[in-house]
Amino acid sequence: MLISQMTLAEKIQQLRQVFKISKEVREALPPGDNSPIPDIDSLVATGAVGSVILVTDTTAEADRIQHVAVESSRLHVPLLIGADVLHGFDTIFPVPIGLAASWDLSLVQHAQAVAASEARAGGVNWTFAPMVDIARDPRWGRIVEGAGEDPYLGASMARVQVRGFQGGQAVDGDQRIDVNHVLASLKHFAGYGASEGGRDYDSVNLSEEALRNTILPPFLAGVRAGVGTVMSGYMVLNGVPASGNRWLLQDVLRAEWGFRGLVVSDNGAVGNMVAQGFARDDADADLRGFMAGVDMAMGPADRSPYGTLAGSIRPGWVSNDDVNAAVSRVLQAKLRLGLFEHPYIDETQAKRDLAARPEHRALALRAAEESAVLLKNAGGILPLRPAAYRRVAVIGPFGDSRQNTRGPWLFPRNNGEAVTVFEGLRNTFGSRARVRFLPGVQALRIPASPFEFLSKAKSAGLWDAARARQEMRDALALARESDLVVLVLGEDRYMIGEFASRSSLDLPGGQQKLLEQVASLHKPTVLVLLNGRPLNIAWANEHLPAILEAWYPGCEGGNAIANLLLGVAVPAGKLPFTWPRDVGQVPMYYDHTLPQDPINVSARYWDANSSALFPFGHGLSYSTFDMTNLRLSASRINEGGSVDVSADVENTGNLAADEVVQLYIHQRYGSAARPVRELKGFQRIALIPHEKTTVHFRLDAQALRYWSAAAHGWVNDASTFDIWIGPDSNASLHAELTVET
Ligand code: BGC
Repeated sequence: MLISQMTLAEKIQQLRQVFKISKEVREALPPGDNSPIPDIDSLVATGAVGSVILVTDTTAEADRIQHVAVESSRLHVPLLIGADVLHGFDTIFPVPIGLAASWDLSLVQHAQAVAASEARAGGVNWTFAPMVDIARDPRWGRIVEGAGEDPYLGASMARVQVRGFQGGQAVDGDQRIDVNHVLASLKHFAGYGASEGGRDYDSVNLSEEALRNTILPPFLAGVRAGVGTVMSGYMVLNGVPASGNRWLLQDVLRAEWGFRGLVVSDNGAVGNMVAQGFARDDADADLRGFMAGVDMAMGPADRSPYGTLAGSIRPGWVSNDDVNAAVSRVLQAKLRLGLFEHPYIDETQAKRDLAARPEHRALALRAAEESAVLLKNAGGILPLRPAAYRRVAVIGPFGDSRQNTRGPWLFPRNNGEAVTVFEGLRNTFGSRARVRFLPGVQALRIPASPFEFLSKAKSAGLWDAARARQEMRDALALARESDLVVLVLGEDRYMIGEFASRSSLDLPGGQQKLLEQVASLHKPTVLVLLNGRPLNIAWANEHLPAILEAWYPGCEGGNAIANLLLGVAVPAGKLPFTWPRDVGQVPMYYDHTLPQDPINVSARYWDANSSALFPFGHGLSYSTFDMTNLRLSASRINEGGSVDVSADVENTGNLAADEVVQLYIHQRYGSAARPVRELKGFQRIALIPHEKTTVHFRLDAQALRYWSAAAHGWVNDASTFDIWIGPDSNASLHAELTVET
């Protein structure tokens, strides 16, 4: 037994994870962080850390550090090498919110399996993904990393992503992870997405009812799918920091859910408990993080994660057994990965992986096509008839931007290939039209820090008023000369993600003005959005005929968007969140409870419409679908019983297309007031013109149960349930189900 050969110091060293940042990467990062690069090699060589987070460029570098660990440390223990592989490693897929918008579970599983195989071939054996935080406030930039607002969709996405990353249908948390897969990590446990005001890292106050019914289901689904690790969050949850929260980490995660894997803290989250006014000093923070259930502390090397833990091992404090339990979870993770037998990069696999790249890109193309959501298409402008346009203008700061086609959370190695919208349209139109591009407004540069964006940009000379006016004039001239305008607007990828909250959802950086000026030319104009949160597009929705939400679509984004605009592919993505009209409405989500005056639901502000701009689950097609004949296998069941719900779906249009059939329920009365609608099933199906099929869903006690504040526990009420099936959360095909005691 390895553990019995370890000294206490060596055991604690296994519980530490530090960043391994290469010099090249540090130089490429935005200015501001001038701290010296710590000498990770000597930490690894002396066995002083159990894991590193790889922020480096090359596979060779990952392999080298593993060689140092295995060859130089006393017990030759390999490293867990972690990285944030959220939407691809070499081959970049749409950002997670986009993958969720595909509502295609097998696609998402497959995409993450590809990401895992590339990451493993590149020396990474642990991804800090999936991010399964429910996000209901789009001011919070990390909405882009998750699956949106809904616990059912979120749980479904969590499950398949864990399977994709780790391989197989594993339900047993001890199952081996082969050389094509990596350990996954559910993050950020738990509630991080509900930060007040949408301000990243701010406090979270959530009732147990909200936690149990809304926030925790994706985590539980991931645990049930056999996830190897869970990452504890940064923020203070209901007064107790998530990384020092015994209730979350012990009572819920371990005792209730039976999680046997490894808990890692977010970056510096244990030490941060001092700053949060919870721990007295670093030693107190280490002690309280560890006792709460954080096995491994992540942090910058200079902050020495778990650097003081050894001092807390004494009678009445941390016991040797506690340390052994945490260390054995770290070693178990390394065992699951087979690292003791095969610590190094398998060159044959790396080569095979490179050979498979065309397939990976083909999947990235499909993923980008499937994730796009057609928000509006009036007058049938889409799909574009290529013969109708000879001069096409692609206008907007993101029309020819590789960076913003790929999106956030990338590695320096991903700075290569990505097809922009301009390139995609040029390829697809070919000789049929002249496709030209102009940005119209200055491309938004990396803000030194988000809140100082404009002032910094101005003082750094990045903002040049004369140039801005000229760029606008040039773009309008191009639009005037063209007979089709594809406007590509959105948010720079540095304005979204971590530490990128916004107080406004307006199109940033002069884009609204560009939009209005282009629209005033009355040319056929299509708006394509590259972004990760719902932006304020109420004006565009009123004045433009067509809007395609393309997210940050990944390396094949431009080709996918061109295929969608020209009808080579038919859009079928659906919104994984409710799209507000205005920032003043947020947080906004479809599964709210009913007010006492349900009739006037869209008139709850005196100064604005209070309904959504687009409902949760919304997304149009170029074809049309009829949903009819909703039936239940029984109209009355007993508590604990189940029922088959089915409906006929027919493609009544002229194009082969996919549709996402959605099932919603509402419990009319019970021990607590239940949401007006709750998603309880969905299926993405493909139908050729005039093809008809029957879609079945099963509703059982598990689906109908909920955590009741009144009962302080899980309940199944005898009640009447409304059941709807339809193409979005406004589904109208209705039936009634009675559940009896
Ligand atoms: C983020 C995590 C991420 C970690 C390591 C943190 O700041 O919150 O999501 O996994 O950094 O990069």
